[in-house]
Amino acid sequence: MKKLNVVILAAGKGERMVSKRPKVMHEIMGRPMIRYVVERAQELSPARIIVVVGYGREKVEEYLRPHPVTCATQKAQKGTAHALLSAGKFIDGGDVLVLYGDVPIIEKETLRDFLAFYEKTQCITFMTTDVPDPGGYGRVIMSGDDILAIREHIDATPKEREINRINTGICIIPSKSFPLLRSITADNKKGEYYLTDICKVGRQKGQGIKGYNHKDAREVLGINTRKELLEANEIMRQRVIGQHMQKGVTVLDRNVYIENGVKIGMDTTIFPNCYLHGDTVIGSDVVIGPNVVVKDSVIHDNVIIEGFVIIEGAEIKEGAKIGPFSRLRPGTSIGKGARIGNFVEVKNSRIDRDARAGHLAYIGDAEIGKNVNIGAGTITCNFDGIKKHRTVIGDNVLVGSNTELVAPVKIGRDAVIGAGSTITEDVPGGALALTRTRQKHVPGYRRKKRCAE
Ligand code: UD1
Ligand code: CA
Repeated sequence: MKKLNVVILAAGKGERMVSKRPKVMHEIMGRPMIRYVVERAQELSPARIIVVVGYGREKVEEYLRPHPVTCATQKAQKGTAHALLSAGKFIDGGDVLVLYGDVPIIEKETLRDFLAFYEKTQCITFMTTDVPDPGGYGRVIMSGDDILAIREHIDATPKEREINRINTGICIIPSKSFPLLRSITADNKKGEYYLTDICKVGRQKGQGIKGYNHKDAREVLGINTRKELLEANEIMRQRVIGQHMQKGVTVLDRNVYIENGVKIGMDTTIFPNCYLHGDTVIGSDVVIGPNVVVKDSVIHDNVIIEGFVIIEGAEIKEGAKIGPFSRLRPGTSIGKGARIGNFVEVKNSRIDRDARAGHLAYIGDAEIGKNVNIGAGTITCNFDGIKKHRTVIGDNVLVGSNTELVAPVKIGRDAVIGAGSTITEDVPGGALALTRTRQKHVPGYRRKKRCAE
């Protein structure tokens, strides 16, 4: 193939989104839609990827900075042909493939097939598709696989509006045809320079224009409204679920939300209604119970997460069991075989292997040794109103129920804390620490009280 440039049009505001954000920065499965289009472009290994930015350009440019693209500015949004011309100064020969920032769910194979078609014809080619409800799109008037004209909805006659073949926007322009863009005028209802009018000016110069029809319309539709954004999310969500299933993940319900980029190992089972996102890696043979949220976390093999658990910025080592109803916050590491039960919150703490906190506890800024048992109702009092302090608990310690550990405090290994204690001083290894007041009995109390009445 000859030299190929990809130009991604992304300067429009996207009025119909009713948003302050530039349209291409709206997210699909946790990533701005422009990202998908840039990735598809990269897969074609072009000489250059140029993104035409305009509305909200600072935001788009900033987001694209780590990506291998050149940004061209279109100051005023005067139409798609005008947008493409704004990229002209960065194009140094070669054909131009035009992608749209708002057509993000296009697949790699579709673009490959489109380019293969172009290889044979070597003339301006638009990708079309057939839809039952073509309202809003440019209608493609064809004769065989030749395009005679593309009529924008607003400019189309009632008869033309009945045409179901629409322009997806994606097109390829051979280098020799690029100068035709300058002959396009804005004599239409919108007063814009339409890229689709390259058909008109091309045909006037005797150039053939071809249509390549793509069967799966859902994949090539533009996102102009919040409703279409929702539909795109849904398509992408099912696509991601499909990819995981192909790699041996059991998904028990289509209603799970797994963001792009989350990795999941073989034979892991995902129950309904989970939300797995961010930089998350899940091992194999893991069970993620219903209604679990996992963000930016690493979950190793054979871990069981029961229902209604929220995990963020945590690492859970092999064979640990979490939930139901637990919350693991950033900076948490749960050791092998450890157990965190219901209504236990852990923040910025390292819990070593086989330790257990089964019920109702707050563990913050703590180091918990191997095989420690944290009784129900235990609280690490880590905050003195100004600073956070650490609690360090040695191996095999037994912390009785309803204990307050006022940090900074250290509990030596094998120590036992009696239930209901408030621990403010370090406890030596092997000792029993008890701070509650002794139980008193007042004999005959009830009888005496009754007599007094
Ligand atoms: C365009 C096509 C229409 C096609 C539809 C498919 C034209 C004239 N019309 O219409 O035939 O059916 O896409 O989705 O090409 N943009 C710029 N600068 C501009 C205008 C637009 O960069 O001055 C960008 C937008 O950011 C967007 C893309 O071009 O990514 C399409 O623009 P939009 O206004 O959505 O065009 P449509 O009316 O949908
Ligand atoms: Ca559009």
